[in-house]
Amino acid sequence: MSDTNSAGTNVDVVDILTSDHQDMIELIGRIKGTPDGTERRDLADALIAEVMRHAVAEEMFVYPAIEDHVPNGKEEVEHDKKEHDEIVKLMKRLEKAEAGEQEFMELVHELEGQLTHHAGDEESEQFPKLRLHIPREKLVEMGEKVENAKKLAPTRPHPSAPHSELFHKTVGPGVGMVDRILDKLTHRHTDPKGG
Ligand SMILES: [Fe+2]
Ligand SMILES: [Fe+2]
Repeated sequence: MSDTNSAGTNVDVVDILTSDHQDMIELIGRIKGTPDGTERRDLADALIAEVMRHAVAEEMFVYPAIEDHVPNGKEEVEHDKKEHDEIVKLMKRLEKAEAGEQEFMELVHELEGQLTHHAGDEESEQFPKLRLHIPREKLVEMGEKVENAKKLAPTRPHPSAPHSELFHKTVGPGVGMVDRILDKLTHRHTDPKGG
């Protein structure tokens, strides 16, 4: 069964992706709001995983729809994917940075700038065009696919699974990193000793 939004209608893919964007910005606010290095590290890892799941789901189900149904969609998607690549590169550096060092917060600020810019583009340009050119029921359906991709794709990197193939094709170098982070987070949540 699909979720409903505050207006009481089924959420569509735009509702879901927009709320993801808000979660990302909120996580960055929490990183900036704590002086504690361990907490900063954990929040940054959670942010990286959230951004990766979101970007993978967009590239699997949303960007192809933009290419097919939005005028000049191919150009818009090309631009968006370039920005995803930049964001992934930045996150790989953030993954390696020490939370106590100056570089860590510099990377967080840079990432904040890029994510805000990219999310702003999508919310003001691509998402309204999706709603203009694709019937609402299709967008609700696409939202369900996106939710499933976010849950399944990064934690199941079986080489033979079509999802994962697409994954490696679209996000490439970021995927291994996310798998490791997700493993760590999953382990932490399921370890009875508190991990
Ligand atoms: Fe995106
Ligand atoms: Fe997005």
